[in-house]
Amino acid sequence: MSLPTSPASALDRHARPLRNLRVSVTDRCNLRCAYCMPEEEYAWLAKDRILTFEEISRLVDAFASVGVDRVRLTGGEPLLRRDLDRLVALIAAKPAIRDIAMTTNAITLPDHAAALRAAGLGRLTISLDTLDAERYRALTRRDDLSRALAGVDAARDAGFTGTKLNTVVMRGVNDDELARLLAFGRERSIEVRFIEYMDVGGATHWSMDKVVSRTEMLERIASDMGAVETLETEGTGTSAAPADRYRLADGTVFGIIASTTRPFCGTCDRSRLTCDGQWYLCLYAAKGIDLAGPLRAGASSDELAARILGRWVERDDRGAEARLAAPRTPLDVSELRDDPHLEMHTRGG
Ligand code: GTP
Ligand code: 5AD
Ligand code: SF4
Repeated sequence: MSLPTSPASALDRHARPLRNLRVSVTDRCNLRCAYCMPEEEYAWLAKDRILTFEEISRLVDAFASVGVDRVRLTGGEPLLRRDLDRLVALIAAKPAIRDIAMTTNAITLPDHAAALRAAGLGRLTISLDTLDAERYRALTRRDDLSRALAGVDAARDAGFTGTKLNTVVMRGVNDDELARLLAFGRERSIEVRFIEYMDVGGATHWSMDKVVSRTEMLERIASDMGAVETLETEGTGTSAAPADRYRLADGTVFGIIASTTRPFCGTCDRSRLTCDGQWYLCLYAAKGIDLAGPLRAGASSDELAARILGRWVERDDRGAEARLAAPRTPLDVSELRDDPHLEMHTRGG
C-alpha cells in the first residue's frame, strides 16, 4: 500500500481525521476509583508483553506519519511506569507531535513534575473527584487526598500552565461538590471539567440513575453560582475536544464532558494504544488491532503506518452514540476477566 503524501489525508468513513493518540503506558493504578476499578481482583497484562519506551516511540512515529499530532499519556496511572520522563523526551523530540499531555491522579506528581516538564511534557490533566478526605478514601479506597493535593501544587511549581482537573460526577457521591471544585480550580487557575459517569470498561456498578447529566450539572451550578454562559468549544489548544465549555459571571471557565448523554462521536479524532501494543479505534471497541506483533516481528515504519492507515480508513465506530440507542448495561466482571483490554484502566481513561 502506498502512503499518503499528506498526513491530513487519513480520514475514516465519517471523514474524521486521525490526530489524537492516547497511549496507555501501564494497566496498573495506585487508586481504585469506584467508577473505574471497583472490584477486589484484576487480571493484569503479561509483563513480557508490555512495550518498551523505544517500541512505543516507534509506533508513535508510524502514527505521526499518517496524521497524529497529539499524544496523551494515560494509564492506569502513567506515573507508575518508571522513568516516564524518558518516554516523554522521546515523543517530545518528534517535530510532528505538536501537543504532548498526560492524565494522572497526581499522587506521585511531586516526585516527577519537574523531570516531566524538563523532558518536554506540555500539559497535565489531573483526575480529582472530591476535596473531602473521607469521601476521597471511600471513592478511591486509598487515603491519599493530601498527596493528590500536593500533586496539584507540584504541577504549578514545576511551571505547568493550562492544567485541567477532571471530575467524574456521580449521584449521591460527589454531586454536591461542583461549586466547591469550581472555587478550588479558580483559586489555582485550573480549568475544571465535570465528566458524566460513563458505562465504559470496568464501570461494573454503573447505572443510569447514578449519572448526573450535563443539563442537571448546569442547573445546579447556575443555582449555586449564578448565570452560566456557553462558550465556543474551540480554544483549549485541542481539536474535537470532548468538553463543552462555559463561563460564570466572575470569569471562571469550566467544562462538561457529556460522553453519556451527548456523545461527541461525530467529530472524534482519537484512538488508543494499550501498553501491550493493541490499538483501539474507539473507547467502546470490543476488539483491538495488534500492532505489537508486527512491530516485534520486524515490520518497518512504513509497514506499520500502512497497517494503521488501512484500518483507520475503514473506521466506522461511534461507540458512545450506539450506547445511547442500546439498552445500557455495564460489562460483566467475567467478560472483563477474560479480556482485560476491555477495562478503562487498560485502554486509557
Ligand atoms: P484534551 O482535550 O486534550 O484536554 O484531552 P481530553 O479531554 O481528551 O483528555 P482527558 O484524558 O482529560 O479526557 C477526559 C475524559 O473524557 C475521559 O476521562 C473520558 O471520560 C472522556 N473521554 C476521553 N476520550 C474519550 C473518547 O474517546 N470517547 C468518549 N466517549 N469519551 C472520552
Ligand atoms: N466514567 C467517566 N470517566 C471515567 N474515567 C474512568 N472511568 C470512567 C467512567 N466510568 C476517566 C476519568 C478519570 C480518568 C482516569 O478516566 O476521567 O479521571
Ligand atoms: Fe470516539 Fe468512540 Fe468515544 Fe465516540 S465513543 S467519541 S467514536 S472513542
